[in-house]
Amino acid sequence: MQLTDTLQNFQTPCYLYDTALLARTLDAIRHEVQQHDNYHVHYAVKANSNPRILSQIAAAGLGADCVSGGEIRAALAAGFPASKIAFAGVGKADWEIRLALQSAIGMFNVESFEELEVISQLATAMNLRARVSFRINPDVAAHTHAHITTGRAEDKFGIAKEDMVRVIRMAQTMPCVDFTGLHFHIGSQLLVMDDFEELCRCVNQLQLELDSEGIFAPNINVGGGLGVDYETPAANPIPDFQAYFSTFTRGLQLREGQQLHFELGRAVVAQMGSLLTRVLYVKQGRQKQFVIVDAGMTDLIRPALYDARHHIDNLSATAAEPAVTYDVVGPICESSDVFARDILLPPTRRGDLLAIRSAGAYGETMASQYNCRSLPSVHFIE
Ligand code: LLP
Repeated sequence: MQLTDTLQNFQTPCYLYDTALLARTLDAIRHEVQQHDNYHVHYAVKANSNPRILSQIAAAGLGADCVSGGEIRAALAAGFPASKIAFAGVGKADWEIRLALQSAIGMFNVESFEELEVISQLATAMNLRARVSFRINPDVAAHTHAHITTGRAEDKFGIAKEDMVRVIRMAQTMPCVDFTGLHFHIGSQLLVMDDFEELCRCVNQLQLELDSEGIFAPNINVGGGLGVDYETPAANPIPDFQAYFSTFTRGLQLREGQQLHFELGRAVVAQMGSLLTRVLYVKQGRQKQFVIVDAGMTDLIRPALYDARHHIDNLSATAAEPAVTYDVVGPICESSDVFARDILLPPTRRGDLLAIRSAGAYGETMASQYNCRSLPSVHFIE
């Protein structure tokens, strides 16, 4: 991305979304998925729920993975067909379940016996049918940050493997509930395919158990989690979807007629977004030089929350001067408000425009107004 007059005039901090890169990413997904008539991708709305982004993804034919009533509304408004919406989450409120039932969404991903009972009661009272899949905790420890691994036995997510048959049997006795399949999600920002291979082995094992009970699961949903290259985003703007999908094609032993669902979030939108921010001060500290920018952890919380690293470019730098080591920090009154430590940037000055890359996923959606700050604005480039 070059510094143009248009960029120069943007009020910062702001998110800049490259809709052409999003289109290419969606094409790459379509290219892989269309080779299988039983593969379905649901976009995880939590990664980026900007209405224009959602509409572009809906228009490309993906379904939606929603985790709240608000996300269901946003997905419907953006044009996702209700039948392609999956509703997940450990704590669905009654109003959200009612909304999902009224909207006739494709399926609930149910996470406990207790939730199943409430869905059954509400569906019966409304005289509607609930299509339910069960999220099974596969007890797989994925290689990622502890805050974003979700499939270990001690995590709050899902139903224990040992309870799978019992919960399906329970659903089969409920008059307004249809059992639609199994759901899994082991974690996020996964770059080693071994994690997904282990998930495949677990799913195969559970399917054998279902066979022996005479139970057919029409849908297998393996969740999301495919990571992106945060270190060198310009070299890898589109994740390796071929490696990802083929891992499941090779690893899973699907039954005749079984549909396979994926819930990708980050891999779809991370690389198309940058957070643009202006340098307020370059401060010489006792031990370090700080580039103090006008964006903070309120605009992009990932570095503060997960020690995440995002590549940073100085768009204003022109001459090829020797690089300098800086910490890039925000203005928020928290020591964790740091975007990068000890990184090399061209000599940086007040007024320079920086781009914090790979910020399209879990950036805008996790922004807050802490310190009475405004939410970042949003711009699109084609
Ligand atoms: N399906 C389920 C059930 C999930 O919980 C998630 C993400 C996804 C799909 C999409 O995962 P993805 O493909 O985006 O990895 N805020 C964190 C990530 C939290 C992910 C939560 N669940 C971050 O910024 O890294």
